[in-house]
Amino acid sequence: MNSLEKAREYEEKHRKEITAGERPLFHLTAATGWLNDPNGFSYYNGKYHLFYQYNPYSTRWDAMHWGHWTSSDLIDWDYEKAALAPDKDYETGCFSGSAITDKNGRHLLIYTAHNEHGKGDDIFREETQCLAFGDGENYEKYEANPILTAKDMPEGADNGDFRDPKIWYEDGRYYCVIAARLKSGYGAVLRYESEDALHWTYKDTLKANDGRWGKMWECPDYFTLNGERVLSISVMNMKRTDARYRNGNCVMAFVGNSNDAQPLDVGFDYYAPQTMLTEDGRRIVIGWMQTPESGGCIPEEQKWFGQMSFPREMTLKEGRIYQQPIKEIETLYKETVSKSVEKADGKSISGISGRAVDMTVETHNASFYKMKFAMKADIFVSLSYDKENGYLLLDRSNSGRSSAICDYRRVQIGRYDDFKLRLLLDRYSFEIFINDGEHVLSGTLYETPLYAEDMSFSSDGSIDIVLNRIDSE
Ligand code: FRU
Repeated sequence: MNSLEKAREYEEKHRKEITAGERPLFHLTAATGWLNDPNGFSYYNGKYHLFYQYNPYSTRWDAMHWGHWTSSDLIDWDYEKAALAPDKDYETGCFSGSAITDKNGRHLLIYTAHNEHGKGDDIFREETQCLAFGDGENYEKYEANPILTAKDMPEGADNGDFRDPKIWYEDGRYYCVIAARLKSGYGAVLRYESEDALHWTYKDTLKANDGRWGKMWECPDYFTLNGERVLSISVMNMKRTDARYRNGNCVMAFVGNSNDAQPLDVGFDYYAPQTMLTEDGRRIVIGWMQTPESGGCIPEEQKWFGQMSFPREMTLKEGRIYQQPIKEIETLYKETVSKSVEKADGKSISGISGRAVDMTVETHNASFYKMKFAMKADIFVSLSYDKENGYLLLDRSNSGRSSAICDYRRVQIGRYDDFKLRLLLDRYSFEIFINDGEHVLSGTLYETPLYAEDMSFSSDGSIDIVLNRIDSE
């Protein structure tokens, strides 16, 4: 049995050991074991395809496979058998990549073959780009792999860090962007082009880190939003150089030629997003709801680890990227409760609770706003907004978590007279969209007991709440 057959047999057996009640309701998790980056997000043969960085054998990161789901509506996803396993002499892991329908109608996957042997001073580490072709179910690696190697990189660049190709087709040619470490030691995004997707040439360095944006970069994406080009990157080891940014491994986007980056998520857990364009022209993004720093903090009893963010539609308004949950989420609503209060005094509001909800809160003429959710007695997550200083404070320190990882985010978002937020809460995670998605904050809740479903609100202004319940009770 080869490595892929072994992985397929393993996942088929073990995925059934995890009940639906042990998973989120509307966020994707690995068939079994570990999940990180979304890969190959594409539309092929009448279905959406989403692949993922996957270790079926344990809840920890290890030799990377590609797991696979398909969907007709981006909401209900079907498990598909694993698509790639590391089984060639040029790879110990099939790292991140993307997908497209090629000129011959095949589903083409382009991914990074990561090859690593030895340890310490004796380490051999090489990354090359490879192809696999398939029919939406089974994929064959291209016999002439790898198709991009060290010789295709700029002088002095390090092929130990050369990964995560994102492919697109434009004016009769294929292009891809790939993250690389340049001679400077910093990350960059390299652009390549091809006539046939088999033979590629280096075109240019689309953007290089000038030292302001962390160290190495990963998972680039390059796309058009309302006529403007956007480059998004996953930045490693960012320092907090500005009150609008967060530090650590995070996601930044550059619009047009601007060298001022916009953070795509200022919460705790969001990394390596990938976008696709739907048939009806929407740019949809899905990210890994975790970051490499906290990826090792796995509760012992956890049967799966890693979640995808809910698909978000991206738009551009006055040079700013906005993200909102895709409208298809409405098909999940079981019940809607609306409440308005003149002043909220820090108590719960009847009918407003739950652990799987899509809730919108609008405040009017408030100087502050504070909300607690995923709450029971002393357990809760809180979000506060201080209008005078324009700061948001997200605090997860009371969520029941046992590992010492980041629990606070304090970010500057500016002053809003009518502060508005939307909370997607789904058992093991939350995603908060401020001011129609101008700022987003995501976080995981692995150890917060599922019965923690109370909420409370404080504000000196009036507030209107619309809560859509997604769980069945
Ligand atoms: C980002 C990343 C990618 C790499 C993959 C390996 O989370 O480090 O750069 O391809 O994960 O799993």
